[in-house]
Amino acid sequence: MPKPATITIDGFAASGKSTAAALLAQSLGYLYFDTGVMYRAVAWAVLDRQIDPADVEAVSRLSENITIEVLSDGPDDGRQYTVLVDGRDVTWDIRRREVEAYVSLTASYPRVRAALTNQQRRIAAGGSIVMVGRDIGTVVLPDADLKIFMQASAEERARRRYKEIVAQNKPAKFAEILAAIVARDELDEKNPVSPTVPAKDAVIVNTDDAGIEEVVARLKQLVARFQNGTK
Ligand code: DC
Repeated sequence: MPKPATITIDGFAASGKSTAAALLAQSLGYLYFDTGVMYRAVAWAVLDRQIDPADVEAVSRLSENITIEVLSDGPDDGRQYTVLVDGRDVTWDIRRREVEAYVSLTASYPRVRAALTNQQRRIAAGGSIVMVGRDIGTVVLPDADLKIFMQASAEERARRRYKEIVAQNKPAKFAEILAAIVARDELDEKNPVSPTVPAKDAVIVNTDDAGIEEVVARLKQLVARFQNGTK
């Protein structure tokens, strides 16, 4: 069997999916695409244009009219990719806490999801891609060859985020990070259009006690099993 043309990796915030997916894509020579940046870009634009995040019509219209680009290159400042909204570099700004506070709300609007889902399907149409998100295996690419759902406890995910922030020499409070993760999980899980749930045919990978190398090795094993026809 050939390699799986499209691989989807879904999971909750900070489940380790982005880092593992990027490394897997690199080892396969595939494109790595993190759909979360698109939802973050919409939330960033809502705040930037001073639109009320609760105004469903205005947010939906905005999401249908902005141009979001994700480029694989950019300044050498530790970024994995560059995110442009209408040509403006928002790569770091979309990671800000203000954006995280609203992203689950604006991502719950059906027209926002439809606009981004269309773009994601176009991006994946060429194959040789590892696409990461919450609903990629269930909604965006239900016919993907290999679907993975990454799980880790909220405490473990909060510990990872805490370490990341401290490593950047920024102030961090563990309890606040944990509370934000739990709140975002709840919103993402209850998202009425695309709740974060594993696809019926997804392989669940639990990363609680696994380091990044171990997780990537497990993912490579799943790719090899697909190729051997023993999925
Ligand atoms: O993976 P992340 O933390 O960068 O995602 C940011 C937000 O975007 C998250 O709160 C849920 C939303 N999201 C989504 O609803 N669907 C996706 N496919 C990816 C992300």
